[in-house]
Amino acid sequence: MSIYDLFNIQGCTALITGAGRGIGRVIAYTMAEAGCMVALLGLHRENLEKVAGELGGKCEKILVLPADVSRRDEIDASFQQVESTFGRLDICINNAGVSQQVPAEDISEADWERIIDVNLKGVFLCCQAAARLMIPKKSGTIINIGSISASAVNVPQKQAVYNASKAGVVMLSRSLAVEWAPHGIRVNSLSPGYIETEMTRSTMSHLFPVWRELIPMERLGKPDDLRGALLYLASDASVYMTGHDMIVDGGYMAR
Ligand SMILES: NC(=O)c1ccc[n+]([C@@H]2O[C@H](COP(=O)([O-])OP(=O)(O)OC[C@H]3O[C@@H](n4cnc5c(N)ncnc54)[C@H](O)[C@@H]3O)[C@@H](O)[C@H]2O)c1
Repeated sequence: MSIYDLFNIQGCTALITGAGRGIGRVIAYTMAEAGCMVALLGLHRENLEKVAGELGGKCEKILVLPADVSRRDEIDASFQQVESTFGRLDICINNAGVSQQVPAEDISEADWERIIDVNLKGVFLCCQAAARLMIPKKSGTIINIGSISASAVNVPQKQAVYNASKAGVVMLSRSLAVEWAPHGIRVNSLSPGYIETEMTRSTMSHLFPVWRELIPMERLGKPDDLRGALLYLASDASVYMTGHDMIVDGGYMAR
């Protein structure tokens, strides 16, 4: 087998959550370009259909699944649709997430619940639904999008709940990796540093110059900077890697 064959995921099926924009959109592109059939899951049908339209020529089959990752009924129905359409799920990439910057002493209980529900419970529900399809096939790869905020308290923004949710994602991934290794399922997290997307642009663009000073590579990342790591984690190139948190951050965490 050539070294390039290890990265071959042609003909696999991949589900991506939060696929309608930002990092999720680039994940969908990456999987489609690598020859996967893709299921695009997210809150807004129109965004998902726009991405599906863009992917058109690249992809043999595309499934659009409008659903909220924090709702078990919607997630179970979506994964059932994946099974009935594709017959199997090889790669599940849990990317949907929300962030909020509020001092911890002011954050409301409702906001705590919303962030934990989407970022942590949502990842768990999708991992569980994915594993139920993967266990009978004795194979599968799950990639959960964490963050450098799982292991560092980013400054100057105040986002204790987001940080806690992402630390939960990394530890959940490690725990599931150990539980599901005997079933042939690998679970890793991919933790980006600061990436320029609507999430960061909408409320934190005034902090970009501050962050740049803290990043050894002196620039924010682009969603495209994650493509290589995604293909590596999704493919047999990482066949002996599970329970790992892969950080892609322009050197931020190295300081
Ligand atoms: N942008 C960054 O700097 C950065 C850094 C580290 C980690 N991340 C993580 O990467 C992921 C993607 O971030 P992004 O920057 O592309 O953000 P984004 O806000 O541009 O995209 C997030 C996507 O998730 C979807 N989503 C939100 N709640 C959902 C729900 N309940 N159910 C289904 N879909 C839902 C949104 O509709 C959107 O399409 C997030 O988990 C985020 O925490 C981002």
